[in-house]
Amino acid sequence: MGKGKIYKIGVIPGDGVGPEIIKAGMVVLNAAAEKFDFCLDTVYYDFGGERYLKTGETLPDSAIDEFRKLDAIYLGAIGHPDVKPGILEKGILLKIRFDLDQYINLRPVKLYPGVWTPIKDKGPEHIDYIVVRENTEGAYCGIGGTFKKGTADEISTQVDVNTRKGIERCVRYGFELARKRNKKKTLMCVDKANVLTFSGDLWRRTCQDVNKEYPDIKIDYAFVDATCMWMVKNPEWFDVIVTNNMFGDIITDLAAMTQGGLGVAAGGNINPEGVSMFEPIHGSAPKYTGKNVICPIATISAGGMMLDILGETEAALCVEQSICKALGEGYIKSLEAGKMGMGTSEVGELIARFVSEI
Ligand code: IPM
Ligand code: MN
Repeated sequence: MGKGKIYKIGVIPGDGVGPEIIKAGMVVLNAAAEKFDFCLDTVYYDFGGERYLKTGETLPDSAIDEFRKLDAIYLGAIGHPDVKPGILEKGILLKIRFDLDQYINLRPVKLYPGVWTPIKDKGPEHIDYIVVRENTEGAYCGIGGTFKKGTADEISTQVDVNTRKGIERCVRYGFELARKRNKKKTLMCVDKANVLTFSGDLWRRTCQDVNKEYPDIKIDYAFVDATCMWMVKNPEWFDVIVTNNMFGDIITDLAAMTQGGLGVAAGGNINPEGVSMFEPIHGSAPKYTGKNVICPIATISAGGMMLDILGETEAALCVEQSICKALGEGYIKSLEAGKMGMGTSEVGELIARFVSEI
């Protein structure tokens, strides 16, 4: 013991249920560290709504400089009922994504065994794909403005920025993933090229250009509205999806419902050359704060993704298998808050035990 690697992990529990789910996640990650002989050296940060209300500060640039020295960031949830929408999202979550150039938002859509899906007659063999969401451009750039505010002639613009470089690195990540998954060997580019003709054209031409480097992978195109339909009707058609920031945001909430709910949906904000951040895709669920009722599996699964990116592949797989065991063998009754048949912390302990035993 103790001979393995040491990873420096920044932990941001955040608001609402954030601290509870992060605690459960850390119990599992520490069990994995013990078993696979590595060490997680954690540094906790109190960024979030409470700190903002007390100090007026969201996330200072000095924190970003500290984050650059980390191996990864583990985030609970950001969002406070007393803070106006947009402040914490932009000031903390999006700031980290943008400043650390986490240009991929990786969101696996996987129905675990034993989990109920609202999609009739579909099981884990049908719902198993992954969304590669561009994470630093598009309508999220914050470019635009307001003119004649408060008058009947008010105008607002919100610019959808698409760069060749940004698309290319995202698409390349998608091709690599399709090759690594070795399933349908298809990359599905999701856009709205029938209306958003300029950006759609750039995305599609970039896909075709990069495809030349991946002749073993087929490229397919789908409009985002039709994609929503197929995600419900024929989710088994998908393997790897690449899409822009906004479309990726929207379709992954729909996807989360098909995989049983936000209680299991995890995501990674990835900079393959830098520092990545892992989080459940759900919010801070303030009404459940401190009640020990919320499902921590999305956070645990995000922790597993973090181990994978750190290079602890075996440990990541073990976390994933332990989640499958807890859900597939009926230990956890439901993913809904208060209906799991045990508390948030107990789910963490159960999965940690499986990590040690499997
Ligand atoms: C997500 C969230 C964020 C986003 C919000 C909170 C800014 O919805 O991670 O999907 O839109 O990206
Ligand atoms: Mn979202």
